[in-house]
Amino acid sequence: MSSPRTRYSTVAIVLHWLIAAAIIFQVILAWRMDGRTPSGFALIQLHKSVGISILLLSLLRLAWRLANRPPPMPAGMATWERWLAKVAHVGLYVIMIGMPITGWIMVSTSRIQVPTLLYGVVPWPHVPGLAHLTGAAKSAWNDVGHLGHEALAWGAYVLIALHVAGALKHQLFSREEPVLAHMAPGAKPGRWLDPRLIAIFVVALGVMAAAQTIRPPVPASKPLPPPPAAIETAEVAAPVVPAATAADPAAATPAAEAASSEPSAWTVSQGSTLGFATSWGGSAIEGRFDRWTADIVFSPEALDKSKVSVSIDLASAVSGDSQRDESLKGADWFDVASHAKATFTATKFEKTGADRYVAHGRLTLRGVSKPLRLPFRLQIEGDKARVSGVTSLDRTAFGVGQGEWTSTDQIPADVKVSVNLTAKRR
Ligand code: HEM
Ligand code: HEM
Repeated sequence: MSSPRTRYSTVAIVLHWLIAAAIIFQVILAWRMDGRTPSGFALIQLHKSVGISILLLSLLRLAWRLANRPPPMPAGMATWERWLAKVAHVGLYVIMIGMPITGWIMVSTSRIQVPTLLYGVVPWPHVPGLAHLTGAAKSAWNDVGHLGHEALAWGAYVLIALHVAGALKHQLFSREEPVLAHMAPGAKPGRWLDPRLIAIFVVALGVMAAAQTIRPPVPASKPLPPPPAAIETAEVAAPVVPAATAADPAAATPAAEAASSEPSAWTVSQGSTLGFATSWGGSAIEGRFDRWTADIVFSPEALDKSKVSVSIDLASAVSGDSQRDESLKGADWFDVASHAKATFTATKFEKTGADRYVAHGRLTLRGVSKPLRLPFRLQIEGDKARVSGVTSLDRTAFGVGQGEWTSTDQIPADVKVSVNLTAKRR
């Protein structure tokens, strides 16, 4: 086997070039990131995945380095050069390990809790102990992550430039110091047109071009999973099937109710959906709440005594992307930690045409209560009713979307809410 005196071990060489390529890719990618647009969000997810991969590879490399001696530096190197090379190498290890850790701290303490799914597949936890902090402690750690990441990024620019300049100096201007050959075995010092040098240059350009052009799939493009069987089974304690309100005489004697002009109580059937629709950066997003309950007491003949009240578990929002759904629960959006449920209660109903009605109610969402009109179509056949209705609301009026999301250039203020349900008379 080749002597460890003239080059690094094969494992160290493979890891060096893999990590170098990944870091170059990572930096170029970072310059394109902007979490407010769907494509920028997808780039951040890729940045996180590549960054964590760099962390794992770098820890492996450090362990390998500590267990395996590197080749000695060439005899002709000046003392200051040896020191500079050593300091730069230690600094590069600090970058390789420190950058991912500060990035990881940043995303673990972010206001918007976006989970990390490496390459969209492998779940990666937040930094233990940090994600559950609140208030000032959380934002202090976020500052540590943010400032550290930025400072190390500047350190990386300087050190990588110095490191590459050093490697090139020895390769191009010295015939006796085979430094590049330590990492690229066979490279001949003093040669400008060395195939290894050209290969490194071409691959580096390719990696930069890839980082500049890659377009990871945006979350909004994924279709929703099939509508819930979950709706009825997800909440054992509070099933979607509405409890009949109090001692409703109509419920006890269904046949008699129409004549008595008392409204009927209804049980919502499986497959009923409560959806929402919006868009992000121009691409449509269809969402749905998978857990909600409805108390419905309603008859066209007794509109004045009818009452509908819906309670929506906001943490059950799905929108076709699990990372986005997780952030919807966070403080900037539904803030489920403080306001787990939204409620809609309507006690005034108006008939506007054949089978057409308008419910005048109040929506309470995120601690804000506002009037909301819900026009709907109702068809009753015997003991079965079919209801479909669409309304729209201004998300900003309820504080849904804080901070940079109060701006409506990427996500409009207007959100469509739709209900499609079938119900059985009790
Ligand atoms: C060696 C690995 C990494 C490198 C070289 C790197 C590099 C960078 C660079 C150059 C920036 C732009 C900094 C600026 O000028 O503001 C950046 C931003 C960012 N990085 Fe990394 N990063 C790495 C790992 C990670 C990891 C592992 C994560 C998360 C798990 C992460 C999350 C972020 C985030 C969220 C931003 C945007 C910060 C902002 O809001 O401005 N990074 N990264
Ligand atoms: C961009 C990210 C890069 C990082 C983070 C990096 C990191 C490192 C580290 C930490 C070492 C010391 C190895 C050890 O003792 O374990 C090293 C060695 C080396 N690197 Fe890099 N490197 C990068 C890019 C490059 C590039 C682009 C070149 C070539 C142009 C290069 C050429 C070398 C050479 C020749 C050595 C061996 C130096 C010696 O034996 O004294 N590196 N690199």
